[in-house]
Amino acid sequence: MEQKITTTYQRFEHWKELALTEVELVENAYAVCESAYAPYSKFHVGAAVRLTSGDVVTGSNQENIAYPSGLCAERVALFYVGANFPNESVETICIVAKGDLLPKEKILSPCGACRQVMLETETRQKKAYRVILVSQNGVTIIFNSAEDLLPLAFGISE
Ligand code: THU
Repeated sequence: MEQKITTTYQRFEHWKELALTEVELVENAYAVCESAYAPYSKFHVGAAVRLTSGDVVTGSNQENIAYPSGLCAERVALFYVGANFPNESVETICIVAKGDLLPKEKILSPCGACRQVMLETETRQKKAYRVILVSQNGVTIIFNSAEDLLPLAFGISE
C-alpha cells in the first residue's frame, strides 16, 4: 500500500516580514557569515540559535584542507550550545548563506548530517524548536520542529 509523508512549513516573501525577535535572529545569522572560514567552497554559512533564556549563540562553517574535517555552521552553533549551555533549550535556529554555490532563490537547506544533529538536539531537550531557512533573495520558510526536516530518522523515538 502506497503511503505518503508530508511536511508543513510557513513561507514568507522576505525575512523582513517576520516578528522582530526573528528578524534579529536572521541578522545575527548574516553577521556571523562574516567569520566563515570557507576558502574551498567560498560559500559562507551562518547559523544563529536563540535559547529559551533569550541568549543567542552563533556559528559559521569552518572548512579544512582535509575536506571532511570541516564543519557546517549549524553544527558549530549547536555543538557550542551543547558544550556551553547544556541545561538550556533551543527555541529557534536560523540558517543563512552567502555565495555563488547556490542560486539566489534556493533556500539554504541543511545537509543530512546537520539534520540528524538538529533532530537529536530536539530529542535531548524534549521540546520542538523552530527552524528558519532563508534564501539569498530573502524568501523564508519556517518549520515548527526539526523533526519536520528529517522524516523516518534513524534513532530511538520517544
Ligand atoms: N554548509 C553549511 O555550513 N551548512 C549547510 O547547511 C550546508 C553547507 C557548508 C559546508 C561547506 O563549508 C560549505 O557550506 C559548502 O558546502
